Amino acid sequence: MAEYQPLEIDTPIRPPKRRLPARPLVIGAAVGFVFLILLGSSHEPSRQAVSTGLTKAKEYGSKLNGWAEDFEASYGPKGKGTLRLEEEYALPSRKALRRIVGSDPKYLVKDGWATYGYNNGRYMLEATLLMAKIAGRIPVIPDSVWARSCATDAETCEGHALRYFEHRNEHRDVVGAKWNDDGAAYKLGIENFLDIPHLRKTYGPLLTYTEYLHLYSIDPSLYDESLRWNVTNYSPPGLTTVTMTEQEFQDRTFVRVDRPPRMRSKEDIMADLPRLAGEGGDVPRLSAETVKLALGAKPAWSLTAARDALKRRGEDKVAADDERFVWQLEEAGAVLLWTYSDEVLMNKAMARPSTEVALPSTIRPLSTALSSPPYSNASIVYLTGNLHDQRKPGGLYFTSPLERDSYTRLILSSIRAPPRIRKLGARLAEKMSAQVEGRRWVAAHLRRGDFVNIAWAPERDPVRHFERTKEALERGKEVLRTHFGDDGRLPRPDDPFYLATDETNATSLSYFRSRGAILLSDLLTPQDSALLGPPAAYTDVLAVVEQQVLARSDYFVGSEMSSTSGGAVNARLARGEEEWSWGLLGREEGRRARRRWKA
Ligand SMILES: *[C@@H]1O[C@H](CO)[C@@H](O)[C@H](O)[C@H]1NC(C)=O
Ligand SMILES: *[C@@H]1O[C@H](CO)[C@@H](O)[C@H](O)[C@H]1NC(C)=O
Ligand SMILES: *[C@@H]1O[C@H](CO)[C@@H](O)[C@H](O)[C@H]1NC(C)=O
Repeated sequence: MAEYQPLEIDTPIRPPKRRLPARPLVIGAAVGFVFLILLGSSHEPSRQAVSTGLTKAKEYGSKLNGWAEDFEASYGPKGKGTLRLEEEYALPSRKALRRIVGSDPKYLVKDGWATYGYNNGRYMLEATLLMAKIAGRIPVIPDSVWARSCATDAETCEGHALRYFEHRNEHRDVVGAKWNDDGAAYKLGIENFLDIPHLRKTYGPLLTYTEYLHLYSIDPSLYDESLRWNVTNYSPPGLTTVTMTEQEFQDRTFVRVDRPPRMRSKEDIMADLPRLAGEGGDVPRLSAETVKLALGAKPAWSLTAARDALKRRGEDKVAADDERFVWQLEEAGAVLLWTYSDEVLMNKAMARPSTEVALPSTIRPLSTALSSPPYSNASIVYLTGNLHDQRKPGGLYFTSPLERDSYTRLILSSIRAPPRIRKLGARLAEKMSAQVEGRRWVAAHLRRGDFVNIAWAPERDPVRHFERTKEALERGKEVLRTHFGDDGRLPRPDDPFYLATDETNATSLSYFRSRGAILLSDLLTPQDSALLGPPAAYTDVLAVVEQQVLARSDYFVGSEMSSTSGGAVNARLARGEEEWSWGLLGREEGRRARRRWKA
């Protein structure tokens, strides 16, 4: 097996001139695959799956060699001496894992959730990375994704999955939760979605559940398919675990922040006054008592909500502009919090930074809790439960803008799709560009599927939903005109646009196409799919390819409630696309959504 080279950002992983380095890595990937298959079999009936799994993995390994070469020949970089595939994931050896974690490692773990798709799992993972950093511990991350949709035939999808359910909602006992809708489920390794070697190089030491079990020689059949941490099964002798429950992490009475706020002295605050007051002016003070009463009703407030609450309490000196209002709040003893606006609450895009406010008495820093007993001396700190729902990106608030921004940069630089997926996405984006003869092109993510029944789609009716999306794209074209002027590359009125959607109704899809939409299936040739290998059989993996296409469009319209849209936005931001080059279609009709478009 190829030895994993941990954490060497500056040292080349392999000698730069070697021409076909993919082979040993690919074999490593196959061995990793065998291991994952072993893990995929935690229950009695799957003993047989283990042996078929081994055969399957051998075939997979030899096929992978072929794909790697084909892929490289078609899409590899052309530069002399640089022709190599980027590193594919392979399960590190125990020795390499020991090197990654060092001696006397301290871990932080957080539950995963089996019934969430990759993008939901991704932002839970992102929050785990943050919390582990705050704790100064090594994160151990869930590493399975239950794919829910097969893009080819069921037999292929079943055949390549680590584990398979024909009727997923009949297996609540195994996965510990229920999906929004029934259907098949195919367990895949997270390395099909996420570039783990890159994550380790940019983030630092981390382990996947599988790697952790491997490192401590824990029986792989004890892998808990619910993706929750299993204290009983995952505690090797000598390691102690302390659990922080969901209520201890966060309840309705306090706000969880990263670190203690640095409260500025009265003198420092007053030193800002001349600049804010302008010539001869003043900034009126708010009553500290009123601020306390108004903000006491809940832990954290957006500036808009705080203004309204203060006005309701009869405070009439509230400044209309945010800068002076923030000063008034700080002067009155409130704590400023740095986070992201509610526009990204559900999709967790690392965008739309915002300032919020709280009372000092409601602040609970995670760093303080975890550096005190019983957490401080535990080998493993385990955060239980669902720590992301209705929470901001990162799962907590920041007490400094620098920390918030450094979290943004961390996620944008370290979380990315595996090399093959990125390269295929780039290739499809080139095809889009060719479709519009090199002009700029726009793209949208029209999320339907289970969102329609839980009323998270903007419209139940697919045609109305599509038309609203198309209107949003037209506004996007206006934005492009504003920014670029008529430079000859603006989209023409009848130019096609890219549409990522999980809609499956053939009537609706042909309507979308008749109105200018180009879908993945219109661009993806069998040759493209073959280059991705077996993962191309799953719509869940293809959705990550589509995110790469969306990331490369000149304007993007996402779905506010969708983490897949959020991931596409993050991929855009990571590529340096501008904040103005995307917008989100909210779930609700009416004013709120329209106002957002003007913003
Ligand atoms: C841990 O896994 C075992 C099965 O191996 C299961 O019976 C138990 O309920 C799990 N513990 C938790 C807390 O989920
Ligand atoms: C951690 O500290 C607490 C309180 O000081 C103590 O009771 C406990 O035994 C310690 N645990 C370990 C693993 O050292
Ligand atoms: C597909 O959509 C059309 C038009 O909305 C509808 O009449 C038809 O029943 C749908 N087909 C299925 C299989 O749901």
